[in-house]
Amino acid sequence: MARITVHFEPDGKTVELESPATALRAAELAGISMNAVCGGEGMCGRCKVIIRSGEVRAEPTAHLSREEIRNGYVLACRCYLDGDATIEVPPESRLEGAPRLTDEDALRFGSTRVLVGEHRPYPHDPLSRKVLLTLPPPTLDDNLADQERLFRELRREREIPVMQMGLAQLRQLAALLRQNDWRVTATLGRRGGTVEVVEVEGGDTSGRNYGVAIDVGTTTVVAHLVDLNTSETIARQATYNSQIQYGEDIITRIMYANTQEKLDRLSACVVDDINNLIAGLVGSAGVSLHDVTFALCAGNTTMMHLLLRLEPSAIRTEPYVPTALAPPVIRAAEVGVKINPRGLLGWVPAVACYVGGDVVAGVLVSGMARSEKPCMLMDVGTNGEIVLGNKDWLVCCSASAGPAFEGGGISCGMRATRGAIERLTMTDGCRIASYSVIGGGRPAGICGSGLVDLVAEMLRHGDCLDRTGKLSMSNGSSHVREGEDGLEFVVAPADQTATGRDIVITQADLQNFIRSKGAIYHAAECLVERFGLGFQDLDRIYISGGFGNYLNIREAIIIGLLPDCPEERFQFIGNGSVQGAKTMLLSQPALEDGEAIASRMTYIELSTDPRFMNDYTSALFLPHTDIEKFPSVWKELNRQG
Ligand code: FES
Repeated sequence: MARITVHFEPDGKTVELESPATALRAAELAGISMNAVCGGEGMCGRCKVIIRSGEVRAEPTAHLSREEIRNGYVLACRCYLDGDATIEVPPESRLEGAPRLTDEDALRFGSTRVLVGEHRPYPHDPLSRKVLLTLPPPTLDDNLADQERLFRELRREREIPVMQMGLAQLRQLAALLRQNDWRVTATLGRRGGTVEVVEVEGGDTSGRNYGVAIDVGTTTVVAHLVDLNTSETIARQATYNSQIQYGEDIITRIMYANTQEKLDRLSACVVDDINNLIAGLVGSAGVSLHDVTFALCAGNTTMMHLLLRLEPSAIRTEPYVPTALAPPVIRAAEVGVKINPRGLLGWVPAVACYVGGDVVAGVLVSGMARSEKPCMLMDVGTNGEIVLGNKDWLVCCSASAGPAFEGGGISCGMRATRGAIERLTMTDGCRIASYSVIGGGRPAGICGSGLVDLVAEMLRHGDCLDRTGKLSMSNGSSHVREGEDGLEFVVAPADQTATGRDIVITQADLQNFIRSKGAIYHAAECLVERFGLGFQDLDRIYISGGFGNYLNIREAIIIGLLPDCPEERFQFIGNGSVQGAKTMLLSQPALEDGEAIASRMTYIELSTDPRFMNDYTSALFLPHTDIEKFPSVWKELNRQG
């Protein structure tokens, strides 16, 4: 092995490392955040760099066009450096170049909807509360020790089952009580079945007590700052989960985390994201970090493992056993989350490897766990989660839908953020009539809701798309053309886009998208049928998740993503994960309800259900091979025809 020197442009950074090594590894050492969403597997094609000089061996890949290869492009993860090299990293291959989330985006990913129906407000009983105490000074007749004196006073205020206090606090207690004339504020935090005296402060600080509810998503992290005294939401912010640089989906990240060092790296990414969000929240609200005493997280089971640095590998292999579903409440500082140094961090409990606390939180806020009639919750995303049940029973399953709804695996796909086409209409002959772009201006790509509209409108107008998802030029649409890899549909020509390149949907994109929608629908159908029900028996269908939030219900029914039920039965719950975490942060009874929901929800493993595997292909039509399952779509398409 020889040591080589690699120089990066335009950063001007130089690193030394052992050869052979990949250009991706060199970039990582140089501190350049690459868009390596497949975790360096050569699958995503996002890590393109240009070799300016040096001796390299690049593996062949279909992700580079002939012109790119002529211009020196390689995939950083598939390019081995044998000697010194100079490498240029273009903006589109960097994570820093990706748009940051704005306030508007924070609302987009973190919006919550007020529910009606079965939703019941919980009593105000936050997981952390401050209590102002004036203790009677000790006398010869009342010479109780300081700690027990404090506990006695707290018990006079309210019934507290088991109390504990850390040694660090205990060491300061004697001086603190005496220096403050026995007038102190105790912060009480819930830790499972016990209550901890988290901190004792001199004087009255009881008016300042805050918490954060955090949705730790695979793609985005959303945090809400809450006043624990008034239940008011003071501020909300969102950001991308920067673990994305090591893999777009949870399986890739689990595979990446195969050493302690890599697991630590993934944990540090999301902890940094959370710390940045919290710093932004307290900064905008004028709140001191010291007064943030509790953080409650909700997320999928993998995100929980990666943040807490729990061994995640068994999540992806049979028999799918995670390290924990309900980890203990810890001190936030133990994992590096910066709130009050003694503040606590808890998780909404999960159900199984692929149904996490985010889904439990969604079920709680939907109110379906109190309903007399059966309801369904559909969390539509890279991993689709479906819950079915009512107040007496709850079952759930998950379906790996792939990243198409988040814009992944689609040549011009992007997440639902600034520059994405999110709505689209057509006229007859498959001609684009109008589209709307998030944040206005020229489009840079198309997001999940835009894709749903596009496919639904193609089905409605003209013959450019058949029900198997095949593009056709037979109707003479000016938008369909022969591309490098077969037929493609031009959504926006280069002269109208922000990138100066055509925004197109290829035949392969359509197949990816249809596979994603088919996986979600088919999982939902298998679950209802397994319990002897049909979609028509459902009282309500709740839709959650960042993508689901902006879905056009009718268009989603037309393509066969959602079942053909009356539109009024569908109800959006927005980001159920952060809303549920916030509800539990503000009320111990709500947390107990969440725990009860998690423990009574039965997980159904669909991958071992032969019907699921056999009938999946029937959902790979638009909307379905059995059109009788979609009577209103049949009627509408025939009317159009
Ligand atoms: Fe290189 Fe995905 S192709 S990281």
